Amino acid sequence: MTQRTALVTGGTGGIGSAIIRYLAGQGHRVATNYRDPVKAESWRQAMAADGVEVCMVQTDVTDPKACAAMVREIEEKIGGVDILVNNAGITRDTTFHKMSYEQWTAVINANLNSCFNVTRPVIEGMRARKWGRVVQISSINGQKGQYGQANYAAAKAGMHGFTISLAQENAKFGITVNTVSPGYVATDMVMAVPEEVREKIAAQIPIGRLGRPEEIAHAVAFLTGEETAWMTGANLSINGGQYMGW
Ligand code: CAA
Repeated sequence: MTQRTALVTGGTGGIGSAIIRYLAGQGHRVATNYRDPVKAESWRQAMAADGVEVCMVQTDVTDPKACAAMVREIEEKIGGVDILVNNAGITRDTTFHKMSYEQWTAVINANLNSCFNVTRPVIEGMRARKWGRVVQISSINGQKGQYGQANYAAAKAGMHGFTISLAQENAKFGITVNTVSPGYVATDMVMAVPEEVREKIAAQIPIGRLGRPEEIAHAVAFLTGEETAWMTGANLSINGGQYMGW
C-alpha cells in the first residue's frame, strides 16, 4: 500500500473522527484542523490512546489565509496533502422566513466557502505530483432539500457543483473529485435535532435506523483508495434508503 498524507477538515466531529480513524488504519498520515483547543486536546488524547497520531492545526476553515497557512504547516510536518476530505460543517436550522443573514452566511461560509479555502492551497501540489483524491462530505439534504435548512441545503448542493467542476479540470492530473452525501447519521449534529422531529425523520429511513459514522468513513476510504482511479465527479448517496433519487 502507498502511504499518503490525508487532511480531513472538521476531524474532531462524529463523521470526521471516523474518517480519520479509517484512513489512519489504512496506514496513511492524517491531519485535521480544530477550533476549540480544550475539546481538541481531549480528542487528541482519545485518538492517541487508540494509536492514532493526528497532525492538528488550529484553523477556522472560513478564513482563507489561515487555511493556506494550515496547509503549509501540514506539508512541512507530514508531507504534501494527497487526500483531502472537505468534511467541516455546521447547521443553523430555522425556517427561511425567520432566518437571519448571519445564520445564512455562517452556514455558507463554513460548509461551502471552506471548500474553496482549503482546496485552493492543496490542489496545486496534487497537480504537480499528478495524484490526488478530493472528497466533499455533502448531505442528503443538499439532494432533496429539508424543511428548516435553506442555508444548509444550498451549501450542500453547492458542494457537489464544486465537485463536478473540479473533477473535470483535474482529471488529467490523476486527481479524482467525488461527493459523499450522508443521510441522518448518529452524531452530535443530528442528535441536536429536537427528539420528536428526529423520530419522524428516522421513521422515513427504510433500513430502519440512523447511520453509523463508520459507514460513511468506509465510503470515503473507497473513494480515496489507489484502485478507485476511474471514478470522478460522482455523488455517493449513503442514507439508509431515505432518498433514492439519482
Ligand atoms: N414538513 C412540513 N411541515 C413541517 C415540517 C416538514 N418537514 N417540519 C415542521 N413542519 C411544520 C410543523 O408541523 C409546524 O406546523 P404548524 O405551525 O402548522 O403546527 C411548523 O412547521 C413549525 O414551524 P416553525 O417555523 O414554528 O418551526 P420551529 O421553529 O418549531 O422549528 C425547525 C422548525 C427548526 C425546522 C425544526 O423543525 C427542526 O429542527 N427540523 C429539523 C431540521 C433538520 O432535519 N435538520 C438536520 C440537522 S442534521 C444535518 O443537517 C445532518 C445532515 O446532513 C442530514
